[in-house]
Amino acid sequence: MVESGDEMRSLMRVCVVGSGGREHALAEVLARGSHDVVVSPGNAGIPGSVAVGPEEVDAELFVIGPEQPLVQGLADRLRVSGRRVFGPGADGARLEGSKRWMKEVLDDAGVPTARHGAFVEVAPALRFLRCLPPPWVVKTDGLAAGKGVLVTTELAEAEADVAAKLSGQAFGDAGRTVVIEEGLTGPELSILAVCDGATAAALAPAQDHKRLGDGDTGPNTGGMGAYSPVACAPPELVDAVVEVAVVPTLAALRRRGIDYRGVLYAGLMLTPEGPKVLEFNVRFGDPEAQVVLPRLAVDCDLGALLAEAADGRLRSRPVFSPQAAVTVVCATEGYPTSPRTGERIEGLEASAAVEGVTVYCAGVAADGAGGLVTAGGRVLDVTAVAPTLAEARDRAYLAVSRLSWPGMQYRTDIAAAPLPSPSLSRNGEGTW
Ligand code: AMP
Ligand code: GLY
Repeated sequence: MVESGDEMRSLMRVCVVGSGGREHALAEVLARGSHDVVVSPGNAGIPGSVAVGPEEVDAELFVIGPEQPLVQGLADRLRVSGRRVFGPGADGARLEGSKRWMKEVLDDAGVPTARHGAFVEVAPALRFLRCLPPPWVVKTDGLAAGKGVLVTTELAEAEADVAAKLSGQAFGDAGRTVVIEEGLTGPELSILAVCDGATAAALAPAQDHKRLGDGDTGPNTGGMGAYSPVACAPPELVDAVVEVAVVPTLAALRRRGIDYRGVLYAGLMLTPEGPKVLEFNVRFGDPEAQVVLPRLAVDCDLGALLAEAADGRLRSRPVFSPQAAVTVVCATEGYPTSPRTGERIEGLEASAAVEGVTVYCAGVAADGAGGLVTAGGRVLDVTAVAPTLAEARDRAYLAVSRLSWPGMQYRTDIAAAPLPSPSLSRNGEGTW
């Protein structure tokens, strides 16, 4: 135990599970709290990476990054063997593993969301689709790495997508059930809450840029960049989301016997009728984590916060610095459909030397000569922290300009047009 201000803080060995930029950011911010961090399996660019599975690691806290192992029950397996885990069991992870089930829980909890229907057969799906006004939204029920959602103003494209998904042709079994929903409009916002089963503490809001191209064009991706804070998300909006979306969802889960300990990530659209939940994810967002976590105040111990939630006794509240953070994702040619990998990455050191910049490593591998090569679609998350959003953006893009590999692509408009401030009011119908 060491003394930290008035509090006694116990240093832990923490195992972060995963291998991307989000896990790099988690590991770095946990290590800032002086915890001893290992990352399983991590990657060649993340310090503390170990080439063994989490079940083989001896640690006092396990923090599971990606959705796939959560949906597959890794948190349950670790808990059964007596480990303290931050991350929901397979039961709670169904919120992300099945959009159909998530919608059932949202309806039960009374959380505002888009009108929707779930289908396994083409004919009724098309009938429902044709009754909705544009834009049309077709989602795979199961996991599709952020790529299973089509939003289109072309009815024929939506119809073809329904058929391709339901046949299994487009996304295998993940698409054999589709969720069709009304198209909403408005700026999007990500609010991540640390949950202990009953209560929640929201983190600073972030905005993600999901489309591949500048000006929100091209296909949906896992996320091409993010920034925080978000001017249009004042504390009262965050509180309202916790009160109206997060806490009722935790209660609806408890009614189903599910004790949800982990991050509940609300993907929101700020519609003219008020915020609506587009989706819940059961983990830190990627790349939202890369802008939210570095903004934690220096004396705010992320490890202690996550350990409290894992123990079902959340008492601390996260505190954020007034600094802004911007992350620009550098991806490979062909991402998101067919990323071309194996290219040598140049300029890493020069990029990380820019003031306030950290380069989080996502899809990278060792080249055998002390360098890194591209090994996934999203390769590097260049994150800059600065007193203002504009300065953070300038720093991030300066750092990006020092990086290169053949076919490297990135958006040039991350955080360029921060969201307008909507008028936040609890509407006449009384939901928000
Ligand atoms: P999801 O994985 O459900 O968050 O969807 C991915 C992206 O598709 C979202 O971030 C939105 O940009 C878009 N999207 C999802 N649902 C809707 C909707 N009902 N209306 C308009 N856009 C949507
Ligand atoms: N950035 C979107 C996600 O993590 O799902």
